[in-house]
Amino acid sequence: MKDLTIHHISESRVSKVDFQNLPFGKIITDHMFEIDYDGTKWVNPRISPVEKMSIHPMNMALHYGQSIFEGMKASRSKDGTPLLFRPELHAVRMNASARRMCMPEIPEDIFNEAIHAIVGLEQEWIPKMEGSALYIRPFMFATDEMIGVKASDTYKFMIICLPVGPYYPKPIKLLAEPRFIRAAKGGVGEAKTAGNYAAALYPAKLAREQGYDQILWLDAKQNKFVQEVGTMNIFFVFKNEIVTPATTGTILKGITRASVLEILRGNGHEVNERDLSIDEVLARYQAGELLEVFGTGTAALVANVEEIKYDNIHINLDSSNWTLSKAIKDEINGMRFGTIEDKRGWIVPVKETVAAV
Ligand SMILES: Cc1ncc(COP(=O)(O)O)c(C=O)c1O
Repeated sequence: MKDLTIHHISESRVSKVDFQNLPFGKIITDHMFEIDYDGTKWVNPRISPVEKMSIHPMNMALHYGQSIFEGMKASRSKDGTPLLFRPELHAVRMNASARRMCMPEIPEDIFNEAIHAIVGLEQEWIPKMEGSALYIRPFMFATDEMIGVKASDTYKFMIICLPVGPYYPKPIKLLAEPRFIRAAKGGVGEAKTAGNYAAALYPAKLAREQGYDQILWLDAKQNKFVQEVGTMNIFFVFKNEIVTPATTGTILKGITRASVLEILRGNGHEVNERDLSIDEVLARYQAGELLEVFGTGTAALVANVEEIKYDNIHINLDSSNWTLSKAIKDEINGMRFGTIEDKRGWIVPVKETVAAV
């Protein structure tokens, strides 16, 4: 990006961070990337110290919800090189979200160059411990100041970075709750847009009050087909097949999900992307055919599911000897830390490094 301007922080906060005890999502690095859409083009790319932003009370994103985001991670190879996992797919998904929410696309070269520039600049913030990473949050929101429902003309795209520890430190429990839905056909379930997460907060709160970590979403029409979980896609390992719900418009197309599918198929497993009813899951559990259940997503990578409750029926599993979810986790983590050869070209070393002060 030739017109990128950089304003360095005078003193980095990195030495004050306790990298052994990182909470998820609370610590931000020194700098942020920002670029504005003026109604016709993206202008004024800049990296500057993280600071509070002032916002107008008529900001349209606040009122009408044009707000989308991505989530990706940077890790470090053994020799210290910062590594990204499939960043180009995040640019593609960001733009799919932008189209659905009537927002301008961010050119993929700007997205990718900005990721390399900010992660290169903040590389001292990439944690070295396994299970930890630098979480990268690109996001875009409306900036017109107006009351009245219409698409904004102007937008801001930003990237912030946060060193993070493990998302779920232990196996999780899910509640399949037919009273609530996350997304319906024709809606915005496939877009990574803020409102999807806001709509999930209340059902998730009720689930937590009953001792569950997350809702296992069911489809909106018949309330019986398994969809996804919180911020993860979901896989069921049965004796003779692995099943993950097909992405037919209501489920976020996870980049971890796509990667796991490729790894499993490459290792000769039969994986079916299809409709899977909660009744089938229960019946096959009762028949002793359900071996493993795990969620996949950037934040958690692979999270084992040890309990699912549906209609007062409990599925209880013990994940201590699961081999498949562990093999997948080890393979992706191995690639991300440069200890396993990346045969598929998923790992992208950070190339454009902006000198830190
Ligand atoms: C609703 C939802 N589903 C699934 C995922 C998993 O997607 P990915 O593997 O790209 O992180 C996420 C996280 O981004 C999510 O927010």
